Amino acid sequence: MKHQTIAVLDFGSQYTQVIARRIRECSVYSKIYHYKASAKQLKKDNVVGIILSGGPESVLSKGSPRPDKKVFELGVPVLGICYGVQLLAHMLGGKVEKSHAREYGHGELKIKTKGSLFRGLPSVLRVWNSHGDRLGKLPKGFRAVASTENSGFAGIVDEKRRFYGIQFHPEVHHTEGGLNILENFLRKICGCRADWSMASLAEESIANIREKVGNDRVLLGLSGGVDSSVAAALIHKAVGRQLTCVFVDNGLLRLNERELVVDLYKRHFNMDVRVARAGSKFLKRLKGVSDPERKRKIIGNTFVEVFQDSLKRIGESRFLAQGTLYPDVIESVSIDGNPAATIKSHHNVGGLPKNMKFELLEPLRQLFKDEVRALGAELGLPKEVVWRQPFPGPGLGVRVLGSITRRKLDVLRKADAILHEEMMGSNLYYKVWQSFCVFLPVRTVGVMGDERTYENVIAVRVVESKDAMTADWVRVPYEVLQRVSNRIINEVSGVNRVVYDISSKPPGTIEWE
Ligand code: XMP
Repeated sequence: MKHQTIAVLDFGSQYTQVIARRIRECSVYSKIYHYKASAKQLKKDNVVGIILSGGPESVLSKGSPRPDKKVFELGVPVLGICYGVQLLAHMLGGKVEKSHAREYGHGELKIKTKGSLFRGLPSVLRVWNSHGDRLGKLPKGFRAVASTENSGFAGIVDEKRRFYGIQFHPEVHHTEGGLNILENFLRKICGCRADWSMASLAEESIANIREKVGNDRVLLGLSGGVDSSVAAALIHKAVGRQLTCVFVDNGLLRLNERELVVDLYKRHFNMDVRVARAGSKFLKRLKGVSDPERKRKIIGNTFVEVFQDSLKRIGESRFLAQGTLYPDVIESVSIDGNPAATIKSHHNVGGLPKNMKFELLEPLRQLFKDEVRALGAELGLPKEVVWRQPFPGPGLGVRVLGSITRRKLDVLRKADAILHEEMMGSNLYYKVWQSFCVFLPVRTVGVMGDERTYENVIAVRVVESKDAMTADWVRVPYEVLQRVSNRIINEVSGVNRVVYDISSKPPGTIEWE
């Protein structure tokens, strides 16, 4: 039997993906459709409820997007959000007018009639608004059930047809009770069961990949990070050995990193993993270069070159897979800030071979980071992969300050492995955003036994953060710092001093280069 589907018609809101995500949080299956999706299509997909998303346009502008009018005749409940409610009003015979005051940011919603939509909620809610137009007159059959300072029609209902409209955004975190409102719509109004889970999501994605890929081949650049790992595991489950992964060893990886990746994906998952061992090429090009930007450029360009070479060697393939996520809409936005302003873009794409034509396969595109982690766990990826700390693309290249040599990399690797062990051992590794060592290109005097030493310094950086935009240094217990310092100085030859970085971001950055 086809599962119950909630259709989210996308009118271009930056929150459309967030709506879909909230529906998944309610264990209900949802699908985002282009706003023009035909009523026939929705019916075929067993749609039991429709959400009209917000959008940047005004329904009063010529050519602004409209859904298929027949979606209002399907007999399923409809919830219009923001632009969506204006569409409802405009298309069903009401009136939308330009508001003299643009309603933006927090507002206070007064609920007059709770009905099914606001069941169980308090009578006053702080809600998040972002709209210019307002409703002037309701269509026949509708009545107002909630208001804000600027609008008597902030919540409208036609109970007979089961059409609902709200002018604010229930999907964003700063709307109080937003999730309850959506859940009321799903359960009480659309009659949705709570039977959609991560396992169903995995199944559905696997089926979609199979259908899309058919008998063709898929290539994927595996970095060992969460996103590419989950994408690889998912695609591998779908098409097995039709997937070939390329792992570039740029010589700037952490201790045993290549071995771990090969061990997990090749041995454990039986994936076709090709390792491009290009450490020497990278190091040769980096020789004597100490400017951070130049280092990054060299590493980036060399990566593209090595990756393209490997692809050519592997031969024809129709698809190139990427672990692109839905660009993180950061949830912890400031109270008065615009949530849109904190949208971060993802830099996964890049370095696509110009002379090779691929179709992109991006199975994680609609997911948020925490969902990707849950999906990874569902697919059997170990905790160390799913909850791995972020690691920069240029790797240790930006953690050996100044010019890079094999010796410095070796020293840094050993020190970093010790920090990693101690963070794991003290149960701190998964609690912080990142913990790593930096090799400083200065030497300081020390004394070991009876001898004077003149060796390098290792800086330890441990930060907490939600999104890497801001970060603070972690108050790591002194005992842990002491063990890290003792062990690095005793066990890593070439280091006689360890310092702890107590800078926050801003003004510091997380990485030192
Ligand atoms: P910064 O140093 O800018 O770092 O505070 C913010 C976050 O981004 C990571 N980072 C990178 N990630 N390629 C990446 O994939 C890069 O070139 C890169 N540079 C920094 C950094 O580790 C931190 O999590």
